[in-house]
Amino acid sequence: MIDMTETKRSNPSFPKRFLWGAAISAHQTEGGLNNQWTAWELENAKKLATQAPYSFGRTAMWSHVEKEATNPDNYVSGTAVEHYSRYEEDFQLLEQMGLNSFRFGIEWARVEPEEGAWDASVIDHYRTYLKRLKELEITPVVTLFHFTLPVWFAEKGGFEKRSNVAYFVRFVEKILDELGRDLEWIISINEPLVYVGESYFQGTWPPNQTKKLLGFKVLLNLIRAHKKVYQLACKNRRHKVSMAHNLSYIYAGDDAWVSRLSARVADYLVNQWIVRRVRKHSNFLAINYYFAQRFFGYRVHNSEKNPESDLGWDMQPDKLYELLVETYKKHQLPIFITENGLADTADKHRKWWLMETIRAMDRALKEDVKIIGYLHWSLLDNFEWDKGYWPKFGLAKVDRKTMERTLRASGKWYGMVVKRLRS
Ligand code: BGC
Repeated sequence: MIDMTETKRSNPSFPKRFLWGAAISAHQTEGGLNNQWTAWELENAKKLATQAPYSFGRTAMWSHVEKEATNPDNYVSGTAVEHYSRYEEDFQLLEQMGLNSFRFGIEWARVEPEEGAWDASVIDHYRTYLKRLKELEITPVVTLFHFTLPVWFAEKGGFEKRSNVAYFVRFVEKILDELGRDLEWIISINEPLVYVGESYFQGTWPPNQTKKLLGFKVLLNLIRAHKKVYQLACKNRRHKVSMAHNLSYIYAGDDAWVSRLSARVADYLVNQWIVRRVRKHSNFLAINYYFAQRFFGYRVHNSEKNPESDLGWDMQPDKLYELLVETYKKHQLPIFITENGLADTADKHRKWWLMETIRAMDRALKEDVKIIGYLHWSLLDNFEWDKGYWPKFGLAKVDRKTMERTLRASGKWYGMVVKRLRS
């Protein structure tokens, strides 16, 4: 087992070229945006603040976050954490931790604020951004769709219409044209199942639909969009493309046939269906890991002993090992962990989570699973969608009044371990 207390690179299982990093998305950090989410936040902030005690009042950290969570301002992204103007500071954090990779988003609504009108200054911004990462020898991983849409595109029906896919493809073409030279790793669509689930099945995110058939149509269009991005990017051998899939490790808690069958069905629906649809159109498999689900009968019942994050999420970071081994066996594509983390205001569990995660990757690597890299979610505290700012996912804490960034103890620890493993 990997010993993280040793001072030397204690384990050769992590290849020298392993990408160690952190991740963010544009909407959650940049600030000053105008997309379909920004309009929705303003309309829904009050309602979300009122609902918060019913959704999170039972969680262990509630008394610490209550004030923020019941304030409507918490639900408006606004200036976010000003990553758009403070990216240099954020790159310094990456450097401080010795990370060699960074996942971020290019915001379509900024690049093409009106249909067909490209904002050259925005493209220049991202060009300078990428140049700076190159100077710092930090490998960029770019996301092209992370739940947000330009207002004009949403008004046209967004991904609900098959003919609209062409608008997204045109945006991607523009980005590859302008910035493609400095890109290798590309995430076409972030978590299509989460987007469709929240926006079209449960109706919790814009456009607040509960129409499953429409949701399924959106899903098929997102798959079409991904395949087009893959084709575009394949014209140039430099680019490697994947969707980012939110995968859970789903398992039976006992030998009863109902438990085993339920776990298999859930695994097929959550993990297998979508990956099977796109794996031939992917150069690698980007996976985001947050959850494991243990089935007893047809219900999920995780152990009460597992700690919970501030959002009340059950935490089983060690199950990443099983997920990696099984996913690699099934799909035979190199895996890139493009998100993984927890909401932890007090920084009580993050170090443990990271330690278990690094051990899980180490074990999987020893069984010849190909892992490209690991990106922790998130570099910074940021805007957690319909939960707003109160859940703190950052390796670095952000004071939104002064915008000062401070690495948490877990962030420093992650940096120390990465430096050892890379040395
Ligand atoms: C999303 C992120 C989100 C994170 C934590 C992922 O599903 O891609 O945008 O902040 O989970 O909830």
